[in-house]
Amino acid sequence: MVHRGISVKYTEIFINNKFVNSVSGKVFSVVNPSTGNKICDVQEGDGHDIDVAVKAAKNAFKFGSLWRTMDASSRGKLMHKLADLIVRDKDYMAQLETLNNGKPLSDSYGDIDASVDCLRYYAGWTDKIHGSVIPIDGPYMSMTRKEPVGVVGQIIPWNYPIMMLAWKWGPALAAGCTIVLKPAESTPLTALYMAALTKEAGFPDGVINVVPGFGPTAGASLASHMDVNKVAFTGSTAVGKSIMKCAAESNLKRVSLELGGKSPLVVFADMDIDEAVDITHNALFGNMGQSCCAGSRTFVHEAIYDEFVKKAAAAAMARKVGDPFADDTQHGPLVNEAQFKRVLGYIESGVKEGAKLQCGGKQWGDKGYFIQPTVFSDVKDDMKIAKEEIFGPVQQILKFSSAEELIERANRTNYGLASGILTKNIDTALMFAQAVQAGSVWVNCYDAVCSQAPFGGFKQSGIGRDLGKEGIENYLETKTITIKVPQKNS
Ligand code: NAI
Ligand code: MG
Repeated sequence: MVHRGISVKYTEIFINNKFVNSVSGKVFSVVNPSTGNKICDVQEGDGHDIDVAVKAAKNAFKFGSLWRTMDASSRGKLMHKLADLIVRDKDYMAQLETLNNGKPLSDSYGDIDASVDCLRYYAGWTDKIHGSVIPIDGPYMSMTRKEPVGVVGQIIPWNYPIMMLAWKWGPALAAGCTIVLKPAESTPLTALYMAALTKEAGFPDGVINVVPGFGPTAGASLASHMDVNKVAFTGSTAVGKSIMKCAAESNLKRVSLELGGKSPLVVFADMDIDEAVDITHNALFGNMGQSCCAGSRTFVHEAIYDEFVKKAAAAAMARKVGDPFADDTQHGPLVNEAQFKRVLGYIESGVKEGAKLQCGGKQWGDKGYFIQPTVFSDVKDDMKIAKEEIFGPVQQILKFSSAEELIERANRTNYGLASGILTKNIDTALMFAQAVQAGSVWVNCYDAVCSQAPFGGFKQSGIGRDLGKEGIENYLETKTITIKVPQKNS
């Protein structure tokens, strides 16, 4: 299958270092969001295939297995090898990502660079994860070992297909776990290519398995499986809750969740207005707004509100929309028809509830799932567009008058993923940074996400953290070993 000169090499389920067909014989279509046309069929995994994959992962994790007995530093070398192969195939992988997801090609390259960084960061951790020796009471030596939790199920979304995979594989492999990953049904192609690279890198059979399929079947089976020791999920809050329920009702597997957000990004009047417009614009429109930490509530001080709104609308109108493969494109289609319709529905509700549509609001072009960059002003806290995650290119600009009022309004949400403040006043910035209920606070910048620093949510934005040292904690059990030591020579 060749699309725009890009051939799709892998469309099967990857288990035990082999590509195989689904047990049911079913396949599903993968669609190019720029055109709405089918790219190819992919084998559809369900509970049966998850079962086979979990068996392979469990076998690879057995005490005494190649993976369990490998030096930790050698695990790190394998991860570096995988990173090297991604670098080798970066041009192909970026094109495959753009074909399947619709994001501009330059964004795909950026995601791949970040994914390589993430794998290398965690490769460095493999031989630096250790417990301690504790002076407990009595004639004992007591020590802790940090052991891999076991077989992990990982369910990822479609907004950053390669990067979300790297965020999940990095810490799991560093800890020494074995993996069954279910990519999103809209975007399985780069995950399958990555699977092939892990085989080429030399990962032992069964350490990494990739089962494409749908959420309620393959995803839910993974979350409910009795032999899965931990599930890691990134996606919607509603599905996050169902995953926790599956874990509770099966084997109490460990759960980490990175969910939605409605992140406040606040602009004070002492900030350079053009710089603030630029930061808030990118915070929302990056990745077509399909970002969990999108700065989706832009709070602007009343002293500069009108001017800011004018400039924000001009920035949105200037955003270059078009073919994601073109060099100058900044804005491609949304990922699929469901997301396209959902976002248009939110725009309609904003108009109905009385927010002022400054620009955009419609489909762009006449094919695929493009939506014009859209800006609403005069947005009130209780409007649906100010409360719910839109996950599309729709900016909400709200007005505020004092810092005190602002904190209360910024925190008036069930979410707590990210936040930002733009001001030259250090007191205001520090006060906000301490009072805001969010896992990330960016001061005079936004989206400064990096492998070394933890990322995740307060409140209903999640449980646990991705990235950084804390990202590994999700994949470890602590074992306490206590040894009686004779207290004198006999
Ligand atoms: P979703 O949460 O349904 O999908 C994410 C992943 O979960 C996919 O791999 C999907 O197959 C899987 N999944 C779905 N239902 C499942 C179930 N019952 N059990 C196990 N796994 C399941 O997200 P969807 O429907 O694609 O998008 C809906 C909204 O979710 C978006 O509009 C956005 O607000 C939010 N979202 C947030 C993301 C984030 O990065 N935090 C990423 C994707 C979506
Ligand atoms: Mg869903």
